[in-house]
This record gives sequence, C-alpha cells and structure tokens, in this order.
Amino acid sequence: MRTQSLKWSLGMVAVAVLALSSFSGAQITKAEEDSRMGMESHIGKLTGHAKDAKGDYRRYCVGCHGDEGDGNGENEPWVDPKPRDFELGVFKCRSTPTGTLPIDEDLFDTIARGLDRSNMPPWNTFTKQQRADLVAYVKHFSPRFVSEKPGTPIPVPPAPEITADRIKAGQEVFKKMECWKCHGVEGRANGPSASTLTDDQSRAIQAFDFTEGARFKCGVSDADLYKIFMTGLDGTPMPSFADNIKPEEAWELVFYLRTLEPIKSKEKEVAKGLNLKPITPNAP
Ligand code: HEC
Ligand code: HEC
Repeated sequence: MRTQSLKWSLGMVAVAVLALSSFSGAQITKAEEDSRMGMESHIGKLTGHAKDAKGDYRRYCVGCHGDEGDGNGENEPWVDPKPRDFELGVFKCRSTPTGTLPIDEDLFDTIARGLDRSNMPPWNTFTKQQRADLVAYVKHFSPRFVSEKPGTPIPVPPAPEITADRIKAGQEVFKKMECWKCHGVEGRANGPSASTLTDDQSRAIQAFDFTEGARFKCGVSDADLYKIFMTGLDGTPMPSFADNIKPEEAWELVFYLRTLEPIKSKEKEVAKGLNLKPITPNAP
C-alpha cells in the first residue's frame, strides 16, 4: 500500500514535471543563456558582441520582437506582416542558399535597410559597432546559430550587357519557371496561385507586385534582385530557383523583371523596340 502510493505520487511528480517542461518549452537554462550571450558576429574587421546590444535591443527592438525574440512584443497585434520570431533562425534576406543560415553581413545589411512594406524600419542611425552587436543579439535567440554554420553565399557573376535578346530570353525564363503563377503574367501579383499563398506560420501573404514601383525587401540593386530568386525568401512561398536557373538565365530574368517596373531604366529603353506582350502561359 505504501509503495503503491509512493509509486503513484512519483508518477504524479513525473506528470507535473513533464507538464511544466512542455509548458515552458521555449525557456532555456541559465547556463545556456550565459553561453548564448557570448554570441559574436563578424563583419569585416568588426566583432559584434551580443551582451553589448542588450540595451539597444530593449530600447529599439523589444516592442515588436519581444523580450524572448519570439516576435511577441507589445506591438505585435497591430503589425502585419508579423515581427519575425528570431528563435526559428529563418530569414528572408540572405546571400546563402535556401534552408541555410544567413551570413552576418546579411543581417547587418538587413537591419540598416529595414523591410519595405512592413513595420520593420531602416535602422541607419546606429554606428556600425552597434549594428554588429545587434546582429550577434539577433543570433543569440536561435539555437541554430550554435549548432549550424551559415551557408556559402551564392556567387553573383558580373552582369552582361543589356540587350533586346537577353530581355526576350528573360521573359522565357519567367514563363518556364512559372513566376507568373504567383506574380501574374504582367507582374501584378495576380497569378492563379496568388490568392491562396501563406507563409510558414500559415498566415496569408501577398506575392510582390512589380508594377507598383515598390522596393524589394532584400535590396534594390540588380545583384540584390539576382540573389532574391536564387536564394528564395525563406519562411515564405517565394522559392529558390538556384537549382533550375543558370547564371546567364538569371541575368536575363533580372533584365526582364526590370521592364515590368514603372521606373525609367536602361532595360525599358532597350525593350521599347521589342513590343513585348505579356506571356501566354499555356501557349507553346
Ligand atoms: C515596429 C516594429 C519593429 C521594430 C521596432 C523592429 N522590427 Fe525587426 N521586424 C519587424 C517586422 C514586422 C519584421 C518582418 C518583416 C517581413 O517579414 O517583411 C521584422 C524582421 C526583422 C528581421 C528579419 C529580416 C529577414 O531577413 O527576415 C531582423 C533581423 C530584424 N527585424 C531586426 C530588428 C532589430 C535588430 C530591431 C531593433 C533595432 C528591430 N528589428 C526592430 C518589425 C520591427
Ligand atoms: C509560389 C509562389 C511564388 C512563385 C512561383 C514565385 N514567387 Fe516571387 N514571391 C512570392 C511571394 C509570396 C513573395 C513575397 C514575399 C514577402 O513579401 O515576404 C515574393 C517576392 C518576390 C520578390 C520580391 C522580394 C523582396 O525582396 O521583396 C521578387 C523579386 C520575386 N518574388 C521574384 C520571383 C521570380 C523571378 C520568380 C520566378 C523565377 C518568382 N518570384 C516565383 C511568391 C512566389
């Protein structure tokens, strides 16, 4: 009888411990917290230290990204798209292949640039040291940065000359790779899949509308555009095409995408004579 009740109470303790540990699933131990606080970032000659960014994070980032970096800051209910959950270690703007961690420079650039069409502002008043420290702080929230190395950046070869043939070829790539399924045949974000898109957290998400003149989230240069579709925007339906698009084709696609934008460009100038019609997906 006594052993019975002892067994029973031990069982209860086990249940209680289990319940408690699953309840506090995201909690980490003090020792782990200390070791994560030793996280560094390396940007050129700069070394960033997570511990030195504590104050800046509390002051400037916590309202959206939350104390735990889980994206549950007090402004979260009013913010759409939602602040990023740093615990996941998943980032849209990378120079590295899909599924891999970004390099420190990627996060360093993202913080200064902000993310267009979101509440994430550009933080361009910090010193480089402050920004490097914040990079280390962002990393310290995710165990991925302890157990994994960043991916190897996808090389961006120098751009060839913009020619009418290349723009035309780029339109073929747009058709063949089915960018239009989400982005629409004219780049208006109204393709057949556009209305059903969700991100990895099952939240509705819009494809990018090239005709609005908006900035890309992950940089404005031609090289940035090249990187966007070769790396993909992880956590979103925007896939990586690195396995399917060759470097020459990637540049052709960049040139074609520029013709969809409402902004004056060399590409638009060259495309004028072509009189390009929007693609017809089902025609050969
Ligand atoms: C007003 C709200 C807000 C504040 C304040 C804010 N962020 Fe963000 N942040 C966001 C949102 C929203 C996103 C997601 C945007 C998206 O996915 O398009 C984001 C995304 C990010 C990302 C992920 C970028 C990627 O490539 O996926 C990083 C890194 C980041 N923020 C760092 C910071 C840092 C560092 C600070 C403080 C200096 C900060 N944020 C302050 C709203 C905020
Ligand atoms: C399955 C749907 C889907 C397909 C296919 C797709 N995209 Fe996207 N794309 C998206 C979504 C969704 C976003 C917006 C992501 C966000 O705002 O976070 C996006 C964003 C973009 C952006 C803007 C990125 C930024 O930094 O703001 C570019 C450029 C882009 N896509 C190019 C392409 C190209 C080129 C192709 C074909 C090679 C393609 N996409 C295929 C869904 C798709």
